[in-house]
Amino acid sequence: MNAQARRLSRRLLLSRSAAVVGASSAGLLLPEIVRAQGSRIKVGFMLPYTGTYAQLGVAIENGVRMAIAEKGGKLGGREIEWVKVDDESEPSKGVENANKLVQRDKVDVLIGTVHSGVQMGIHKVARDSGVLTIVPNAGVLPVTRALCAPNVFRTSFTNSQPTLALGKPMMERGLKKAVWISWKYAAGDDALEGFKESYTKAGGTIVKELGLPFPNVEFQALLTEIAALKPDAVACFFAGAGAAKFMKDYAAAGLKDKIPLWGSGFLTEGVLEAVGPAADGVMTTLHYADSLDTPRNKQFRTAYAKEFKMQPDVYAVQGYDSGQLLVQGLAAVGGDIGNKVALYKAMESAAIDSPRGKWTMSKAHNPIQDMYLRVVEKGDNKVIGVAAKALADSGAGCKLG
Ligand code: BEZ
Repeated sequence: MNAQARRLSRRLLLSRSAAVVGASSAGLLLPEIVRAQGSRIKVGFMLPYTGTYAQLGVAIENGVRMAIAEKGGKLGGREIEWVKVDDESEPSKGVENANKLVQRDKVDVLIGTVHSGVQMGIHKVARDSGVLTIVPNAGVLPVTRALCAPNVFRTSFTNSQPTLALGKPMMERGLKKAVWISWKYAAGDDALEGFKESYTKAGGTIVKELGLPFPNVEFQALLTEIAALKPDAVACFFAGAGAAKFMKDYAAAGLKDKIPLWGSGFLTEGVLEAVGPAADGVMTTLHYADSLDTPRNKQFRTAYAKEFKMQPDVYAVQGYDSGQLLVQGLAAVGGDIGNKVALYKAMESAAIDSPRGKWTMSKAHNPIQDMYLRVVEKGDNKVIGVAAKALADSGAGCKLG
């Protein structure tokens, strides 16, 4: 061990003792002590690398790595050891996979995941172990509501945030009767919660709620039902490869030019090249858009495209902001991940200068952020305006802060 590593090790030991004395809630207590002893910080990705959401997992990992590389490739002055687990978007393996990182690999930080069902498995492990956990996508509500935890921070959204901004612009365009369609799991159910609230408040009526199990993409029977119902519009939640298939099938069924398609913006993220003209005119609300005309977004997009030879999407942005949050948090404690009181305080008060626009953390550890109204034009998510400014999730039932 060299002199610098010895100093770091001693500092970790001292501050860990201080952190234990000052610890006041479950997430701040002992389980981290053993983990903080090495001079390298161990960061574990638990993301989908196969299946419908595979592309989302890759974009998130790219974003995290890019943000940290831009700041010298270290966290609080410490080298990083990366480990990875493919969660396959499989909720039944959520706890087991999270424990591979936490119990077996002894990670200091867990970054995961995309799928809301899998997130609930990670969340159980995060709460039981106290390991610092960053949620770079999955928007399942309890994580930053009744089951919020001091060691869990989300850099993405709650599933109802984008759809809370969807109802008003639909009604402003005279679309008074809508059919809702989504996968039947937490992400679709939560997105419906936001849509119901915003659309009915604006005077709209949801004439039918349709669903199919994740990751099923046999849409035909449901599209036939939509054609028979003849609503003013369809609103939906789909993402990844399934979203691409839905938009293609919607157009192929002859609905595209008859019944306007709206959705939570994940519908059109990362898939526009694959979908082609079938996506033109689709309207969505989301906390990011490729075409945001800011120097920050342009610089990010250019650097990402150069590094990874592909265009970034909202998932890459969320990964990037997860990296930024870790950089800021660990800089504040000089790499001492055992100093949880100071680390969490720094992460709670972080101001993230994101490609999506600046955002801050709510008391429940979820972004307070703008929602953009977007339309697909020639393979691009074009911004029409801000649909909701500094939108916060209710954080209902969370006792933090
Ligand atoms: C979710 O399961 O929470 C989710 C997956 C993909 C996009 C957005 C949300």
